This record gives sequence, C-alpha cells and structure tokens, in this order.
Amino acid sequence: MIGRAFTLPSMSEQHLLPIYDRYPLEVECGRGCNLFDTAGRRYLDMASGIGVNAFGYAHPRITAALREQAGLCVHTSNLVGHRYQGELAEKLCRISGLDRAFFSNSGTEAMEAALKAARARGLALEPQKTRLVALRGSFHGRTHGSLAVTGQPELRRLFEPLGAAVTFIDPNDGEGLAAAVSAETAAVVVEPVLGEGGIYPLAEGFLRQAREVTGRCGALLVADETQCGLGRTGRYFAYQWAGIQPDIAVTAKPLAAGLPLGATLFTEEASRHLPAHSHGTTFGGGPLACRVALEFLSLLEEVLPRIEETGARFRACLEQLRHHPAVGEIRSKGLMFGIQLARPGLPVVLAAMERGLVVNCTQGNVIRLLPPYIVTEEEIEEAVGILDEALSAALSDRPLPCPVLRSPL
Ligand SMILES: Cc1ncc(COP(=O)(O)O)c(C=O)c1O
Repeated sequence: MIGRAFTLPSMSEQHLLPIYDRYPLEVECGRGCNLFDTAGRRYLDMASGIGVNAFGYAHPRITAALREQAGLCVHTSNLVGHRYQGELAEKLCRISGLDRAFFSNSGTEAMEAALKAARARGLALEPQKTRLVALRGSFHGRTHGSLAVTGQPELRRLFEPLGAAVTFIDPNDGEGLAAAVSAETAAVVVEPVLGEGGIYPLAEGFLRQAREVTGRCGALLVADETQCGLGRTGRYFAYQWAGIQPDIAVTAKPLAAGLPLGATLFTEEASRHLPAHSHGTTFGGGPLACRVALEFLSLLEEVLPRIEETGARFRACLEQLRHHPAVGEIRSKGLMFGIQLARPGLPVVLAAMERGLVVNCTQGNVIRLLPPYIVTEEEIEEAVGILDEALSAALSDRPLPCPVLRSPL
C-alpha cells in the first residue's frame, strides 16, 4: 500500500531528551529502497538514513555477514585484536591512497581524531602552529572539536567559546583561502561536497589550491568525507575528482551499512603525531562493524562504476521539477542532490512523506536526496513523480493536512 494518513509516532515524549523534531513516521522495517511503517505503509526512502543505507535495507549480503558475525563475536575492545580491523584498514588505505586507519564510531569522532592529530603535529612543529581554517556552511559533527570547525554559527552559538582558533572562509573563495593560511595554520578542513550545508560541491580548482597552499605552509589538508565519501559521488572519495591526496580523510556514514563505524585515514607523516596511548576508543573498530564494513566495500566495488551514471539519470529526471516556480538551483554530485527552493522546504518534505517518499530538508529550504546506490530507474521515476506532486500540493496555498515540524538535523 502506498498512500498515507499520518499519526504521530508513539515514542515517549516524557523520557526522551527533546533534541529531535522527528518527521511523523514510525519505522517497522525496510527492504531495498523501501521503508515500511508500523501500519504497513510503504515509503520510498531517498534519504537513506542521511546517507547511511547505501545498499538500502536488509541487503542479503549485509544481513548474512551481520548474522554470521553476531553469532561469533560482536565486541572485543582494543585491548586485543581481531582479523577484520586490519583487513578493513588495508582496504580503506588502498582505495583512499592513504597509509593508516583509526576506527571510531561516528563521523564526529573520526573528525576528532583528525583534529587531534593536526593539533599535536602543529604543536610539535612550533608552539603557534595550532590555527585551523574551515568553510562557512560546512558541517563536521556535534562534539566540541568538530563543532568548532563547523561553519554554521547557529549550531555553535550555545557552546561558544569552543577553544580552537578557527578562521572561516567562503567555499570556493581562493583569495580568502590564500589570505587565511599562514605558518600558524595546523590544518585546512574541507568538506569536498557540503552536505548538511545544502549540497554544494567544491570546485576542483579550489580543492587543488587547498592542497597546494597547505603543502607550502606545512599545514595538513583534512577532507571530511563523512557524507560525500565511499562512493556517494561516483568515486571512492570525492577529493579524487580533483586528483588530490589529502593528508587525512574522514569517513563514516555508510561504512558499516548502518552499524556505527567511523574511520580516520592518515598519511604516514600525519599519523606519526598520534603515538601510542594518545587517543583511543572502547567500541571503535569492533569485529561486527568491521566484518560488515568489509562486505559493504565488496558490494561498493561492484556498483561503483555505475554510480555516476545512475546519478546523471536521477539528475536528468529532477530537471522535470523546474516547472515549479519555487524550484531554484538544483545542485548535485553523483548521488547527492540539493533542490533549492524559494520557499520553506519542510511542507514539501511532509507532503512527500504523506505520498510515500522520504526526503529531508536542510538549511530550511533545500530538499536533500541521498538515495541508495542501488536505486533503480523505476524508483527514480517514482520518487521524482511523488516529489512533483508534493511540490504542487505544498507550494499551493491550501493548508497541509499534517503538523509542521522543524528539520531533525
Ligand atoms: C560531513 C559530515 N561530517 C561529520 C558528520 C557527523 O557525523 P556523525 O553524525 O556520524 O557524528 C556529518 C553528519 O552528518 C557530516 O555530514
């Protein structure tokens, strides 16, 4: 059944920290690109749990790896070893061009390891070399360090001062970059495609300039690929489109197909400044997450050659939405899409959900789609058809038949 009648989720209002304004959908299960709610209604999921479910729901190979490893060993801690962590590190190094991996549990933790390495390295070189350069509009996570380099003042506001000396520049502002980087810069942090900021792919020339300028000043280039990495743009890492090699790459979201796993990947030189006992984690890189991540990478190897083309087909289909006067720029890279609206996006998200499509709204007026890599031609057409109807319904002046909530991000 596709077609909705909303009821609000039955989650405990009383005992949960009211941090999220959730969309009115209570999930029962999923299969492929489809989600099913507790009433058995089907939703085409083009948000993929914010870019995590790259192979959709209940993929048979992911499920088999999960089942088998769950029956063998879920957790070890890092006091001891297991074979999957090393195998996964070797594969991630091979596809990223980097030398060493540190495993954690999320994008923000993977960023923390990058920022700690940059700080330790800067301090080891000279006491003043601790400054960071980051991009306005970027998002790097919610922990202290990651928040300090997140270029969205409203997310930092309650927690300032955050301690780090950060210069924010506009994305693609080459002059601003040249002016901001000095001998005191420990690292320049970039998000090669700004995701939560509204899907803004950085210009390849800007990324190359960032590589060149950091090399000249002895600073590290950190690429946060938490959202745009691991195949999402049609390459293993989005920085590979610019033909550059960062000193540190950060990755997470789809890596363990829904299990929490982040990885910080370093050059040998950048890794040297996190010596034994300078960093660590209890859960990071456990056997279950690493085993599933190996299966994810093996699936990714098979679909990667098709992602760019699937993205181009999706993009061509989205162009049909241009007849809506409120639709402005449509930005994309591979399977990342941002539809800029001249009106608030939340009513569109809710109208889409009512019709059986899950997308999300970021920055108040950008409809973001991060479809699974396995999305089919038919699913693309179905998704864009629903979005078309949702735009018509939500952007007409008739009131919406469902409550208006704020974006959960
Ligand atoms: C580019 C980027 N970096 C970091 C993060 C933080 O990741 P997590 O929510 O797993 O901590 C996100 C999350 O959306 C992200 O998009």
